[in-house]
Parts: sequence; C-alpha cells; structure tokens
Amino acid sequence: MGLQENFMWGGASAANQCEGGIFEDGRGLANVDVCPAGKDREDVIAGRRIMLEMDEEHVYPAVEAVDFYHHFREDIRLLGEMGFRVYRMSIAWTRIFPEGDETEPNEAGLRFYEEVFRECKKYGIEPLVTISHFDCPIGLIRKYGGWRNRKMIEFYLRLCETLFTRYRDYVTHWLNFNEINMILHAPFMGAGICFEEGENEDAVKYQAAHHELMAGALAVKMAHEINPANKVGCMFAAGSAYPYTCRPEDVWEALLTDQENYFFVDVQARGYYPPYALKRLENKGIMPQMESEDEEILRKYPVDFISFSYYNSRCIAAPGTGSEEAEGNLFKSAKNPYLKFSEWGWPIDPLGLRITLNQVYDRYQKPLFIVENGLGAVDTPDENGVVNDGYRIDYLREHIRAMKAAVEEDGVDLMGYTTWAPIDLISAGSGEMRKRYGFVYVDKQEDGRGTLARRKKSSFYWYKRVIETNGEDLG
Ligand code: BG6
Repeated sequence: MGLQENFMWGGASAANQCEGGIFEDGRGLANVDVCPAGKDREDVIAGRRIMLEMDEEHVYPAVEAVDFYHHFREDIRLLGEMGFRVYRMSIAWTRIFPEGDETEPNEAGLRFYEEVFRECKKYGIEPLVTISHFDCPIGLIRKYGGWRNRKMIEFYLRLCETLFTRYRDYVTHWLNFNEINMILHAPFMGAGICFEEGENEDAVKYQAAHHELMAGALAVKMAHEINPANKVGCMFAAGSAYPYTCRPEDVWEALLTDQENYFFVDVQARGYYPPYALKRLENKGIMPQMESEDEEILRKYPVDFISFSYYNSRCIAAPGTGSEEAEGNLFKSAKNPYLKFSEWGWPIDPLGLRITLNQVYDRYQKPLFIVENGLGAVDTPDENGVVNDGYRIDYLREHIRAMKAAVEEDGVDLMGYTTWAPIDLISAGSGEMRKRYGFVYVDKQEDGRGTLARRKKSSFYWYKRVIETNGEDLG
C-alpha cells in the first residue's frame, strides 16, 4: 500500500508569472505580458478589451514578476532542499521565437532554459515542461489573429521541434497546453483571441480550440518521433460539477458543465470529437472548419497521460434558480452551502479532488497527474519575518489525503502531484502579488516594493517531510 516509490512530488509555475526579465536577451512581447493588474484585467484576458501593447496608465505584473529570470539558481536550490522530484515549469515562447514566426530561434532564450534544466539536474529534479502556459507572442496575434488562425499550428510545431531537439537530454515529460479548456473563459490569455464587433464568439473559440487540439496531437507525434522516451500529457482545469440540488434540471446543467470541460480531454485522450460535441456544435452552427486529414491525426496521436489543475469543485444550478454565486478558478458557479471558502472566495473541497480523480480515471483509464493544487492566501510575516502558514498546510494535507485515498482505495493510476506554486508568484486571474501560494515567501509587495528576497515559510519544512516520507507523514 502507499504511493508508488517513484511518485513525482513537486511544484508548478508558469513563465510569465515568475520570470520577469521580459525585455532581456532578445525576448519578444506576449499576450500575458500585456494583461494589466487591476480592474481592466478581466476584460483584457477575456478578449473584450483589446490591449496589444503596454500603456502608461496600467501596471503590468509580468514585467518583473518575482524575477525568476535572475533568481533561478537560488529558487531551484530551494526546491532541491525540499526534495522535489519534479518541477513543472513553462517556456516563454517569445524567449525562443520573439515574434513567433521566425525560422531561427533566439539562442539566448534557449540557453536560459538549458541553464534552468542543468540546475534541476544538479538536484535530481526532473522538469515537466508546459510548452504553452497561457502564452502567445503578440507578433502572432497582430499578424495572424492568434489561435483563430490555422497557421498557428505551424508556428507552435516549430517551437515544439526546437524544444524537443534542443532539450532531448534534459526533458522527457511535456504538457502541450495549460488548461486548454480555459480558452472558453479567458480567450485572450488562453489563445491570443481579440473579438471583433458582432462576431460569433463561440464560433471563434471553438475554431481556435480545434487548432490547439490539432497542434497538440501533432506535438505528440513529433515528441515520440524525436525521442521515443518522450511522454506528452494534456492539461485541463478540472473540478467536478455538482448539481446544486437533486432537481433533474440542476443535474442536467451540471452534466453540461462537465461535458464542456471534458470535451477537450475527450478529443486529446480518446482521439475524436465526442457525439455530444458534434451535435451541439452542429446545432448551433459553429462546427469548426476541419481539414480532411484532421480526424485521422486526432485518432492516431492521443496523449500519453492526462494532467489537470484542481482548486475546487463547482456547483451548478439550472438558470433562474436564484442561487448565490461563488468565485472559482477563472469562472463563477453557484455557492455550495456545504463548503468553506478561501480568502478569494474559492470553495475548499478536498473530497472533490477524490471525486474528480475517480471521474477522470473512470472516463479515460490513462495515467493521471495532478499538476496544480494549492491555496492562494495573504501571508503576513511576523515580527521576525516568519510566515506561519498553517492554513496552507491544512489545505494541502487534506487534499493529499484525498489524493492518497483515490490511489490506495479506489485504484486510480496517479503519476504525481505538483502544488501551485512552490515560490510565491503573480496571480494569473487577478494579477495580484498578495495572493500567495508558495512554500517560499518572496519579499515583494502589491505596489511593487520589496527586495525580492526569498524566505522559507512553515509549509516549506512540512512539505519537505511529506516528500521524504512519500506522503506517509502528513504532520
Ligand atoms: C490556473 C493556472 O488557472 O490557476 C495558473 O494554470 C494560475 O496559471 C492558477 O496561477 C491559480 O489561479 P490564480 O488566479 O489564483 O493565479
């Protein structure tokens, strides 16, 4: 009993939320760089307000983030000290191809990630690399309209070929797109989409999704050809949808919500558009344009494993129920009266993780990987500068318990668990610094002040012990 010996414990981050250094060494500008902090962020990430460059009025947190670009050696040493077996991180596309459509990569960008991988190797940490974590070069948005254009597949594959070849000796675990289903909720952040007046937004989103799904399948093909040891996973924002009540109308809405999210995994893991999606897209007149070879490509190159983020379950009520709303990872749902909530109003539901693991495993029977789970909270250092984040330990402990039960009692095949995020970084949804997730505190305040110094929180020592004992000692 217990988790497998080589269970991959670690943590996860994304380039734009931690690196900073966005004007250095030839890097180009990306969609995620121009998402401002503050009240306009929501409209920008949703593609409703077009922002393709920085202006004077806004603050752009990605510019410096927590400066991983210059702190990566120290940061990876800290991960090593916690005993990390895996570090999930992403590549900033524009470090490698600044505009996105160049034919030759930027050597300085390639060298940076090589250094990062070398550093990981030093501590026996395996990188798990997200090829695109909410990341699209502004050059590709201006010239081609982002993922609404099929040409994006070619540029994405050029990036993949460069990464798979150059990092053959360092990386064998890849994720093709972070939270691919977020394209429906944050289309600018997820796919570089800006809407034009009066166009059918759903049609654009599903067309862009089709291009990402094709690119993802072709990336699997390429990864296997370049190195047969490569394993490629898909990644989606998970969290089962509970019906608000047992009223059939609520149950039905919950099922629709689950299908909306599973659609992406159905295509990436099973290799075809499921009948419910075909019918609904057809009935709404928004069936994506496909090429004759697409069906075969999807069928031939499904992903090797399925990864997901889990922060909360969702509670779904039929329209007109009058239920209260709750926040959540990038989209709202009904307020579940049986749950507690984080400071950002996200439900806290450890058993929901076990439920999700069971549902996803039942549905696909492929190895699973939890690649994000964590608590965003305000951390206040005491007079000695110590952060006692017992609330974070409680959150993680309960989720790890639920995860272990899914493996040990329900037979779910789980490769690993990476928390979001081991070192404090910028929030994707709100752009805030004060929403912290780390085991390591970064001295940077909401207004940008701070020394960027790193300090271990109580959870640092706790998680180290969890890894050391392979999840047996949860404190
Ligand atoms: C996921 C993303 O949506 O949730 C991360 O993959 C993100 O990029 C994380 O940071 C937590 O969300 P937030 O909005 O609190 O940063």
